Amino acid sequence: MNVLRFPDFNKAISLGSGFRSRSCTVMVMSLCSGERNGRNILVTGGAGYIGSHTCKCLASSGFLPVAYDDLSTGNRAAVRWGPLIEADIADTAKLCDAIDRYRISAVMHFAASAYVGESIANPRKYFQNNLVNAISLLNSVLDRGIRQIVFSSTCAIYGVPQQLPISESHPQNPVNPYGESKLAVEKILRWYGEAYDLSWISLRYFNAAGADPAGEIGECHNPETHMIPRAILSTFPGQEPLGIFGSDYPTPDGTAIRDFVHVTDLAKAHVLALESLRSGQKNVALNLGAGRGHSVREIIAAVEQITKKTPPTLEVGRRTGDPAILVADASLARQKLCWTPQHSDLPEIVRTAWRWFEPALRNCEPFNIGQDSLHRPFSNSAPKLCGESG
Ligand SMILES: NC(=O)c1ccc[n+]([C@@H]2O[C@H](COP(=O)([O-])OP(=O)(O)OC[C@H]3O[C@@H](n4cnc5c(N)ncnc54)[C@H](O)[C@@H]3O)[C@@H](O)[C@H]2O)c1
Repeated sequence: MNVLRFPDFNKAISLGSGFRSRSCTVMVMSLCSGERNGRNILVTGGAGYIGSHTCKCLASSGFLPVAYDDLSTGNRAAVRWGPLIEADIADTAKLCDAIDRYRISAVMHFAASAYVGESIANPRKYFQNNLVNAISLLNSVLDRGIRQIVFSSTCAIYGVPQQLPISESHPQNPVNPYGESKLAVEKILRWYGEAYDLSWISLRYFNAAGADPAGEIGECHNPETHMIPRAILSTFPGQEPLGIFGSDYPTPDGTAIRDFVHVTDLAKAHVLALESLRSGQKNVALNLGAGRGHSVREIIAAVEQITKKTPPTLEVGRRTGDPAILVADASLARQKLCWTPQHSDLPEIVRTAWRWFEPALRNCEPFNIGQDSLHRPFSNSAPKLCGESG
């Protein structure tokens, strides 16, 4: 069976005003050579899914996003609103050089390894990249005089929910190394905040989903483990059916329920977080979710309605550690950031994801079809639910 992967980003991306236009280059050169103007933001993981959408949002809010990414899971073509520094966050010399060269005033830290299953099989990788490298990044940030950071955290820090919806005061008991590594960074931020006057906001996302409503960028993971892209991909001829992991949960239709939040709403929350730090917001961790859940079967129905194709499914058993329901109480983010999700209705999430995939379906050619020994084929990777949220 062929393995259908996400559209090749370079081909899928529509032709348009890429960042590397002459006027933009001139703009960056002048920003580099000027004094720190407060508008240049280092975005680690800026070539990734959520990072690239945030770069777009930053640019439209008058900031210059400087993407810093080793492209381990990111895409060069997703960096369109500012320069790309292709480097590892562990490379302190390159990091400090980038901070100085671009007169960076604040950091958004998305760069991380984010496959829950992989973190259980290979915790070393996760503690190295998500924790050790994050400490190295924080130290560089402090050493270069930066005092504002927005951190990508996750609902995986909570573990199995004890009450719903999940608020920020919910006990924190991660059930995998991925969640543990993120929680550790949150704790370090707290101590660094107290000791070094570092201002931080930690944003705990539930299930990021959807794509840029303008269709300029979208999700592109290899392997793709997120449920909505997988449901869409399953409608392609010759592809694996979508696995339904558990149909005997105590939910109305028996399938697990998760909170899907549109990636553009996440991006907006980052810009609001940055602006609130700049206006003196105190250090805080905030949940980001739509505040309502959708079951696996509701997702499948929405994909069917939007794509006019029926995702083939295969019912398999529950996975260990997957709770029945995960839904965010995001009222604190609404209150602290004045954040209101605008795109997180399920039809819009699926519509924008489909818009991103659809040209590939029409033309067929932008897909990489074939086995890639470096990556697990779709058949071996489970669809992502929030319990194993990236
Ligand atoms: N996608 C979700 O649903 C979700 C949910 C909760 C939290 N998060 C968190 O959000 C962040 C972004 O997630 P995403 O879904 O966009 O993932 P992604 O894999 O698309 O993006 C991560 C980016 O970081 C880069 N990167 C990784 N390690 C790096 C390193 N050492 N140096 C430089 N660059 C590095 C990758 O190349 C990639 O571009 C992650 O921290 C993830 O843990 C994601």
